Amino acid sequence: MGRFDGKVALVTGGGTGIGRAIALGFAEEGGKVVVTGRRIDPLQEVSATNPERIRCVAADVSRGEDVKRAIAFTVEQFGALDVLVNNAAACTMGPLANMSDDALSAMLDVNVKGTLMGIRDALPHLGSRRGCVVNVTSVTAGAATPMMAAYAGSKAAVEHLTRCLAVELGPSGVRLNVVAPGMTLTPMLEANMDRQGIDQTAAHTPLRRVGTPEDVAEAVLFLASDQAAWITGQVVQSSGGLSL
Ligand SMILES: NC(=O)c1ccc[n+]([C@@H]2O[C@H](COP(=O)([O-])OP(=O)(O)OC[C@H]3O[C@@H](n4cnc5c(N)ncnc54)[C@H](OP(=O)(O)O)[C@@H]3O)[C@@H](O)[C@H]2O)c1
Repeated sequence: MGRFDGKVALVTGGGTGIGRAIALGFAEEGGKVVVTGRRIDPLQEVSATNPERIRCVAADVSRGEDVKRAIAFTVEQFGALDVLVNNAAACTMGPLANMSDDALSAMLDVNVKGTLMGIRDALPHLGSRRGCVVNVTSVTAGAATPMMAAYAGSKAAVEHLTRCLAVELGPSGVRLNVVAPGMTLTPMLEANMDRQGIDQTAAHTPLRRVGTPEDVAEAVLFLASDQAAWITGQVVQSSGGLSL
């Protein structure tokens, strides 16, 4: 028996990094998963590891019609939707003075609006199965972080909307929680930080290393499982203690 036997998940940004590890872990433990992202190639690579249990569809979480299409695809492929993992994100680091309108829009549209649209459109399915949502934020949501105002602010918004919706949707049996990763070795980190920066942050992390996608996936899978049936509206940091 796997923890996710008979369960169906949709993982946004599931072609790479943390989302990929979540999808592989969910399928390994008996579940069925749809992964989404804008690029089809990484999604197909993940799907090819376990085509019976992992399917993919290209969809941009900031586009309303794509969100609806991804949810419809999931239900069509696997007959239900029990777990929504809002993992996809846009991240641009740097001084606010240098941020383009497009970069600011992306961080709000993908990280905040995309999360809200996903939850809204998944609700009819989640509500009928007492399902759950796990939103992936960042330790920067709770720590004043220079050069990351837009990104960190968008992640703080996701943490608060999670608490609001946990209260709003609790009576229907739907749970919502957050995993806030610290520095994790993924393509997003490599795009934003050089080796020296990564080593310096590892040296400041109480557990003295950077996280792996699997480290973070473990926390997401726990919150998505029935083991967390009494947990809602919470933020779990998966960070080696980085923000302490
Ligand atoms: N790595 C870290 O150190 C770290 C730290 C704190 C929090 N996080 C959070 O962890 C989550 C996963 O990030 P990651 O580190 O695993 O980075 P990643 O490997 O770059 O994953 C991000 C994924 O999101 C997808 N994506 C981006 N924009 C999208 C959009 N508009 N629609 C659909 N999919 C989109 C990307 O695929 P496409 O480009 O193909 O769309 C990609 O697969 C994010 O929420 C991030 O903010 C990461």
